[in-house]
Amino acid sequence: MKILVTGASGLLGLNLSLQMHDKHEIIGVDRAKLANTPFNIIKADLLNLDALPKLLDESKPDALIHCAANALVDACELDPNATAILNAELPGRLAKLCTERDIQFLHISTDAVFDGTKEGIYTEDDEPNPLGVYAQTKLDGEIAVLDANPNAAIARVNFFGWSLSGSRSLSEFFINNLKAGKEVNGFDDVYFCPMFVGDLADTLIGMLSKSLSGTYHVVGSRAITKYEFGGAIANQFGFDAGLINPISVSDAGLKAKRSQNLRLSINKLSTALEYKIPDFSTGLAKFYTQYQQGYPQKMRSYQQL
Ligand SMILES: NC(=O)c1ccc[n+]([C@@H]2O[C@H](COP(=O)([O-])OP(=O)(O)OC[C@H]3O[C@@H](n4cnc5c(N)ncnc54)[C@H](OP(=O)(O)O)[C@@H]3O)[C@@H](O)[C@H]2O)c1
Repeated sequence: MKILVTGASGLLGLNLSLQMHDKHEIIGVDRAKLANTPFNIIKADLLNLDALPKLLDESKPDALIHCAANALVDACELDPNATAILNAELPGRLAKLCTERDIQFLHISTDAVFDGTKEGIYTEDDEPNPLGVYAQTKLDGEIAVLDANPNAAIARVNFFGWSLSGSRSLSEFFINNLKAGKEVNGFDDVYFCPMFVGDLADTLIGMLSKSLSGTYHVVGSRAITKYEFGGAIANQFGFDAGLINPISVSDAGLKAKRSQNLRLSINKLSTALEYKIPDFSTGLAKFYTQYQQGYPQKMRSYQQL
């Protein structure tokens, strides 16, 4: 399959492209961060909306996985209008252009569309209620995509892995600090379902292979707190888990409000894919194996200097 991946320098886009380029023809869309990647790159600023048709007509992909976004939750609060164009208008435009060209469209959204007030696990039938600019614009993006292209698939994700900068992910936050012997805070009242980005990449390709459409929760099978997540990383990497202080998210002084219950059901996804979504502990072990094999350094070598 020929797959166009937007946000190819990002945490998801880069891991997905590196993992899939020997099985599929990957073309990454990058503004100015990548060089010498083992997959092809098209340099483009996606906010140049008038250039989008040309991007698709020249690359002629079978599928587009749209990972590009402003995913920095607190930064989104600073500029709601620009965030709305990137997170909502752009995906709607791409979805329309893809349906016109018979290109499968897989849009990446977030678990954070829910406000976290439900007692229990969220299914795809539950009503979203975003708490901040990031979550609201991501939900608006979902709506714009499905309005423009009813055959599109939407994956509400949450994932961890190694990034180009070495500091993008929550997992790297814990590793960088714990490795340096520094104390960190971990929220013990925020539940989420983290998935290893490599497992997420496999799952997204599985969704394309099955031509899924509609909204799916694509997260890990186990719900844990962010504090427990940090502890699991410390244990896997042999760091001192005692350096992690359990605190409440309400004491962290964050700009954007966070949902405290992001337990999402993956029943719809595993039924559609006809396989069991990999467990958190196997994903964490694969993440650690990458560390042992020098994957973080290798990833950094794709940085444009
Ligand atoms: N990280 C998580 O745990 C998480 C959780 C839930 C949902 N998500 C969703 O997953 C998706 C991927 O997130 P991520 O963590 O991989 O994000 P990320 O690391 O912040 O990467 C965002 C990507 O978007 C690109 N981008 C931004 N503006 C662009 C523009 N105008 N033109 C071209 N590219 C542009 C960035 O390029 P530059 O590098 O040039 O800025 C970067 O490659 C997003 O849709 C996000 O909402 C992520």
